[in-house]
Amino acid sequence: MCGIVGCILKDDKKDVAPILFDCISKLEYRGYDSIGLATFDDENIHIKKDKGKINEVNEKLDLQDMAGNFGIAHVRWATHGDPSKLNSHPQVDENVEIAVVHNGIIENNTKIKADLEKEGHIFKSDTDTEVIPHLIEKFMDEGFDLEHAVRKTIEVIEGAYAIAVISSREPDKIIATRKDSPLIVGIGEDGYYLASDSPAILKYAKDIIYPERDEIVILDKSGVVVHDEFDNVVNKQIDTINWTPEMAEKEGYDHFMIKEINEQATAVRNTLTQRDNIKNIIDDLGDIDRICFVACGTSYHASLTGKYLLESLAGISTDVILASEFKYSAKTLDDKTLVIFISQSGETADSLKALDIANETSKTLGIVNVAGSSITRRAKYVIQTQAGPEIGVAATKTYVSQLTAIYLFAALLADDNDLLDELYNVPDYIDEVLADFEEVKILSNRYHFAKDFFYLGRGYVYPTALEGALKLKEISYIHGEGYAAGELKHGPLALIDEGIPVVVIIPPGDAYKKTMSNLEEVKSRGASVLAIGGSGDEDLKSKAQDVFYINCDVGELIAPLVYIVPLQLLSYYVTLEKGFDPDKPRNLAKCVTVE
Ligand code: G6P
Repeated sequence: MCGIVGCILKDDKKDVAPILFDCISKLEYRGYDSIGLATFDDENIHIKKDKGKINEVNEKLDLQDMAGNFGIAHVRWATHGDPSKLNSHPQVDENVEIAVVHNGIIENNTKIKADLEKEGHIFKSDTDTEVIPHLIEKFMDEGFDLEHAVRKTIEVIEGAYAIAVISSREPDKIIATRKDSPLIVGIGEDGYYLASDSPAILKYAKDIIYPERDEIVILDKSGVVVHDEFDNVVNKQIDTINWTPEMAEKEGYDHFMIKEINEQATAVRNTLTQRDNIKNIIDDLGDIDRICFVACGTSYHASLTGKYLLESLAGISTDVILASEFKYSAKTLDDKTLVIFISQSGETADSLKALDIANETSKTLGIVNVAGSSITRRAKYVIQTQAGPEIGVAATKTYVSQLTAIYLFAALLADDNDLLDELYNVPDYIDEVLADFEEVKILSNRYHFAKDFFYLGRGYVYPTALEGALKLKEISYIHGEGYAAGELKHGPLALIDEGIPVVVIIPPGDAYKKTMSNLEEVKSRGASVLAIGGSGDEDLKSKAQDVFYINCDVGELIAPLVYIVPLQLLSYYVTLEKGFDPDKPRNLAKCVTVE
């Protein structure tokens, strides 16, 4: 959802553009509507920008060939104004003396723009961002230096922002600030960095500072200074990122998505190391009589599995609420409610808003993949999933890591030692499923012509059905719907027609027989059934057109951790069959920092 970077090199004579380009390329998962860079050299700001994906624009403009030892860069996920060169960032003032990159939304931009136009400012784009360079220009004209012009500007703008600014009127520095959009500062050997997310700068800086809301960050070639609203220097804690640059590379895979699917066993194994931390959190929680999960997208599906686990294993009443709908439930919260926020990025705007509400009354716990992200800093307790950086827009390894953390939490809360022991087998189960990837490829070849897909699951694997359908629709653009198997007859059965694919998730266990009846119902109406079932289930062969067997002993309780894998592979290979890029689905972004 837009990515920004900034860099100032210690060496005056070295050009920053190749580094800016490298850094911003690592954030392409945040937006691919346009890319732009601004550097400063020879008294002037130089800008190269255009709509399109990074490689397309780079072929046209040679973005690495720009002079100057400091600059800023941006990838855009359009919110205000269509993807076009004019609407690309950096956005500038009339005289191109101030250049700004921005992630977020300026909600009062219309009013500001109208006021500035009355004062003679001329706007060229349809973006909300363009008001920022104009406001900075106005305040600099009134006599403020760049830092204080930015400070005055953030007093005027409303909404969410992480911005980085350079100016030819006051060169050799970058000013940055943030509110409700992510921003990290990196301290490297050769220079100082700003980025929306750590993969951008892993290669260049390990030491990281996290600016808080409305702190002003000043980068120059001698270092980084952070000021609070009273111009006091803030002594910021320096954290170290333990991710390596290779983790954010494809490492020989065709796409990040398939690399990340293949890293799932490791992600589960690493997340299991959180067991002691989770035990400590549980011991510290005190009296809890209700749990409420809050999340979006794939994280919401992980949360739904959490409800099944906590209610069936620990007998705790559990709700799952979409973060964007959470405020309507706020009155039901109290100090005996634990509100659990699940998020791979830790920066989803809807979840952050909900967290602020929950913090007023209840205990809050974040289950988050990105260290140092806003949720980890605002929630009372934190469980860090250990998936490593996830670049593919469609979440895969972060999903199974979230599930692993939830399983640990539920098993420890319920003192279920059998389940705890079984969790340590899950990485092997996942690898066994992955070994059968060729079978999924064959299935994808058979099914990729479909226009609609249904996914059915019952009990623990109902959320798996929802997640399987989401994976399919977000990257292959085939309509996919997940349903509780028993609910199908209350409406969607009317849509089942000759040949329509229905994926039935049917692990061995209590729900098996009833799911089998539902399978029969769709089959008798002409559906083409693809069953995902347990090894040795010979019955399935006669009932379904196709069967993918999970060739290890996985019962329904832990099935969500394993049965999702063939569904991820199916989406991936169907997407390849259709000729789309699974890493960059249209209209989507990995980190959604607007409400
Ligand atoms: C976006 C991403 C999804 C993700 C959702 C929630 O829509 O494309 O993959 O599940 O946001 O993100 P979070 O970071 O809060 O898990």
